[in-house]
Amino acid sequence: MKTIQVNNQKVLGSVSEAEIKAFRAKAAEAMEKLSKGTGAGNDFLGWLHLPSSITDEFMEDVEATAKTLQERCEYVVAVGIGGSYLGAKAVIEALSDTFAAYKPSKFPKILFAGQNIGEDYLSELKSLLEGKQFGIIVISKSGTTTEPAIAFRLLKEMLEAQVGKAEAAKRIVAVTDAKKGALRTLATAEGYKTFVIPDNVGGRFSVLTPVGLLPIAVAGFDIKKLVAGAQAMEKATAKDADDNIAEIYAMTRNALYTSGKKIEILVNFNPKLHFLGEWWKQLYGESEGKEHKGIFPASVDDTTDLHSMGQWIQEGERTIYETVISVADQQHSMVIPSDAENLDGLNYIAGKHVDEVNKMAELGTQLAHVDGGVPNIHIILPALTEFNLGELIYFFEKACGVSGYILGVNPFNQPGVEAYKKNMFALLNKPGYEAESKAIQSKLK
Ligand code: PA5
Repeated sequence: MKTIQVNNQKVLGSVSEAEIKAFRAKAAEAMEKLSKGTGAGNDFLGWLHLPSSITDEFMEDVEATAKTLQERCEYVVAVGIGGSYLGAKAVIEALSDTFAAYKPSKFPKILFAGQNIGEDYLSELKSLLEGKQFGIIVISKSGTTTEPAIAFRLLKEMLEAQVGKAEAAKRIVAVTDAKKGALRTLATAEGYKTFVIPDNVGGRFSVLTPVGLLPIAVAGFDIKKLVAGAQAMEKATAKDADDNIAEIYAMTRNALYTSGKKIEILVNFNPKLHFLGEWWKQLYGESEGKEHKGIFPASVDDTTDLHSMGQWIQEGERTIYETVISVADQQHSMVIPSDAENLDGLNYIAGKHVDEVNKMAELGTQLAHVDGGVPNIHIILPALTEFNLGELIYFFEKACGVSGYILGVNPFNQPGVEAYKKNMFALLNKPGYEAESKAIQSKLK
């Protein structure tokens, strides 16, 4: 089985091997904190052995629930935000036909809601679902997040009006905390099928729980292979070692950060990986951006963004480095045809696969950016398969835990996310926020 590879050799013009190795002891210490549960945020380490603890029985329950939704629905709306959204979105986009929305399929089309508070977004979604057979997977660990709560209230009302309360209850699945939160109370009262998000798994580390697995299974993908990939990576990165790729990535990015490279750009050369970049940004941004520290995670889709961000990356402030994800094998084969008249001058690449050209664009970009002072970490994904994506997800999670501990922060909390919520609730006069409402109103005068 081909596995993902990490190559950090193209950072060596910016930081030396010795500067990276200087983090060796801290990486070992971080690995020990994770394995012994002695670091900050140790009540949120459920993701660490999650892949190896998933049972066949559990996966069959997820698959059976997915089948019920597949049988009843043309569309399934996954309602959630942040960690309750991005993992499923990333995996489904990576594995799906790019034009799946416009093609017939034997599986329901997965739509997403609750990841914004867009009045137009929700109105247009409801208009699409008018008269359609649809179901809802509502996902919220806390069960109290405003964005998904609004979307769910609107969609639930619509579904009940369309098919009646009893049938709606068969098409709604809730993924939430075992006991706490409004969503748990509501799901119990309405008799929905539910799945539990374990207490010790934080939102951004939850893609391998039903948060991600259920929507991915409904979309028709093989969650057993996804989990098998994660299990393989759990094993491969379990022990502190010089060749542990999670440690190599964590040490390299901390060496770069210390040398003044404050921004990491995750680059893909495959448009199906756009949302993998969004998922990765949440994982690293929420885990490391605290105490006024942390690499700023950004992402680009190349070659598209070479025609927009390429100038900045090549010649802007030298505070960036890139982590490029290459996909070695494509799912399809397409050769550029020869043209007798050659009016477009493209015959020099006639007979080549489109991907050969893409790979040369990738190599040319890497060389140009490295020459321009942008160090490059290279991650090679054998193919866009469930197994390789499972490996990649766990790799990034493990490296994130190690990297956050090397940086000296608690990688598993997100205290900063609460600030906007407090203000929003105060502005909306939410019961319980009377003092905050008064204080915020005085700031607006
Ligand atoms: O990583 C996190 O914990 C957050 O991004 C949450 O996933 C996000 O805020 C959604 O929270 P919840 O699942 O409680 O609705």
